[in-house]
Parts: sequence; structure tokens; C-alpha cells
Amino acid sequence: MAMVCLSDFEAYAKKYLPKIAWDFFAAGADDCSTRDENILAYKRIRFRPRMLRDVSMMDIRTKLLGTEISFPVGIAPTGFHQLAWPDGEKSTARAAKAMNTCYIASTYSTCTLEEISAAAPGGLRWFQLYIHRNRAVSQQLVQRAEALGFQGLVLTADLPYTGKRRDDVRNGFRLPPHMKLKNLEGAFEVCKMSLLDPSVTWNDIYWLRSLTHLPIIIKGILTKEDAELAVRHGVQGIIVSNHGGRQLDGGPATIDALVEVAEAVQGRVEVYLDGGIRKGSDVLKALALGAKCVFIGRPALWGLAYKGEEGLQDVLRILQDEFRLSMALAG
Ligand code: FNR
Repeated sequence: MAMVCLSDFEAYAKKYLPKIAWDFFAAGADDCSTRDENILAYKRIRFRPRMLRDVSMMDIRTKLLGTEISFPVGIAPTGFHQLAWPDGEKSTARAAKAMNTCYIASTYSTCTLEEISAAAPGGLRWFQLYIHRNRAVSQQLVQRAEALGFQGLVLTADLPYTGKRRDDVRNGFRLPPHMKLKNLEGAFEVCKMSLLDPSVTWNDIYWLRSLTHLPIIIKGILTKEDAELAVRHGVQGIIVSNHGGRQLDGGPATIDALVEVAEAVQGRVEVYLDGGIRKGSDVLKALALGAKCVFIGRPALWGLAYKGEEGLQDVLRILQDEFRLSMALAG
């Protein structure tokens, strides 16, 4: 099967992954209107292309908080990569490094942060944090990530509780017994996933600040009001995100929310986006509307499901080629 675009990887993953894993990756909250809107919204946005502008030389590199990456697409944090490929997050780390881009490793990884670091030494990585009720767990994770050379701390703000994903409920989704939430093993083994702290507020940014020198990036912002609060609380970056439509159903597509966030922020901190990026032209639209970089969630999992590290590199390479071509054709 020729893999030409990201939908080809989606079709492959749907065909070959166990149903319970596919359903978990694909899931959106409730009737999935926000998940689907993330994608539909790109189709409503049109370019105003310009011609005869010498596009023979193009530079698609960018910088994330000062660190150069090869093109403005990174890997969003998603849990449980071993459901897609046996080497799990180690493969993800290797692919991201090979493509010289940023990988945001999830709290819910099935490999330890140490294994992820060792798999791809020197790669650009950020650590995504869910704050636990037992703050010592979170403190220890943040400090481990910093000691291992992770270069950013991404606080996910949109999951005080897990959204209602109907297929996961129907399937009784849980990790197979041979997979573990490796970063949370040990003292805090019991009921890990229900131990997230729903009482987190903006003040906890100050608490995080006191734990680490890493830049803090807040993920899950959808309004100008929250963007302003994020800037005032001293974060270095904002990821406009609705968790791939897996949390509150009925919220805006991220590409639509990006406009008000970018306008409110006025360049004071870096603004990124995830959700619904499936083509190079989607990346260009997000950049044109104010994002410095975008991140892919599900497409990275489809790449892993196809051929592990190599499959994820294929996904990134296709997006890179499509992005370069869109830039040229748009002048
Ligand atoms: C996620 N997402 C997510 N976000 C996060 O901050 N921590 C996490 O552990 C996870 N886990 C996770 C698992 C799966 C299977 C999916 C699909 C998503 C959300 C993710 O970071 C991102 O916001 C969306 O996936 C972006 O949308 P697309 O690219 O999947 O459309």
C-alpha cells in the first residue's frame, strides 16, 4: 500500500490495530462534534495565494523557545504508545530526533522518562504534566524530567476529569496487564488515573514555578480571557488545544480559537496549536493565523501503528513535504 497522505496511515491503523486500541485513539467526547469540527474548520479557511514571488529557496525551520526545529510541526503528548507499537515512546523519541523536531512526552507514557531520554539522547523534548492530588508525585516527575534534560514543562489545563468517551466506556477500556503507566509506578501505584487533582487553579502555576527552572507552557487554552491570564501568570508558551475533542464536547475548533488567542497575546509569549492537523496546508493555515508551531496527536499514533519509529518519520516527512509545497504554491 502506497502511503501518500496522513489518511492512508489512519486507514492502516484502523484496519490493523486491535479495536479497543483504535477506539481509544480515535475517541472524542460525547458525540464527537468538537473532535470532528477541528478538522472541518480547516476546510472552511481559504488562502489568498500570491504569484511570481520566487519560491525557489525556502526556509521552513523555526524555533521553539529558542531551540531550532526543522519545520513547525512537533508531536503532541498522547498516552500509551505501546498500544500502537511495542517499543512505544522510545520509538516516538527516536523519530522526533531523526526529524529534528520536538516531542512532548505524556505523564501517561508506557516507557519511563529515563527510557525515553536514553532512546534518543540530545533530542528536543518537553514533559507534559497532569497534576496529581498527591503533589509529591508531580513534584518528583517535574524534577526527574528537568534532571533528564527535558527542556520544557507542558501543563495540561483541560483535564480536571476525563471527558466521557463513549466507545471507551462501552469497551471497558483499560491498559493490557503487560503495559504500565511506567512513570507512576512504585509508591503511588493504586488508582493512578483517578488521582488527578480537579482543584488546580492559576495559582498552581506559581507552585510549578517554584519547582523548576524549565519554561512552562500551558496546554488547553481556547479563549482570549484565559490567554491573558496565562501571560499574566508568567508562562512562556500557550498551546491552543481542546485535547483533540476528547474533553468538553461543544467547544470551538482550535483553528477558530487560535485567532482570538493570538490577538490577545500580541506576541508576548509563543502561541502553538494542536487538533485536526492532517495536511501541510493545515499547518500553513495555522501559522498564517498566528501559531508559531503546531503539534500532531493521532497522526503520530497512526505512524507508530504502521511501522514504529520509521512509520512516524514517514508521517512527519509527508507533512513536511506538503507544508513546503503549500508555502510555495501560496507564494
Ligand atoms: C491525547 N491527548 C493528551 N494530551 C495530554 O496533554 N496528555 C495526554 O496524555 C494525552 N493523551 C492523549 C491520548 C490520545 C489517544 C489522544 C488522541 C490525545 C491530547 C493531545 O495532546 C492533543 O491535544 C490532540 O491529540 C490533538 O488533536 P489531534 O492531532 O489528535 O487531532
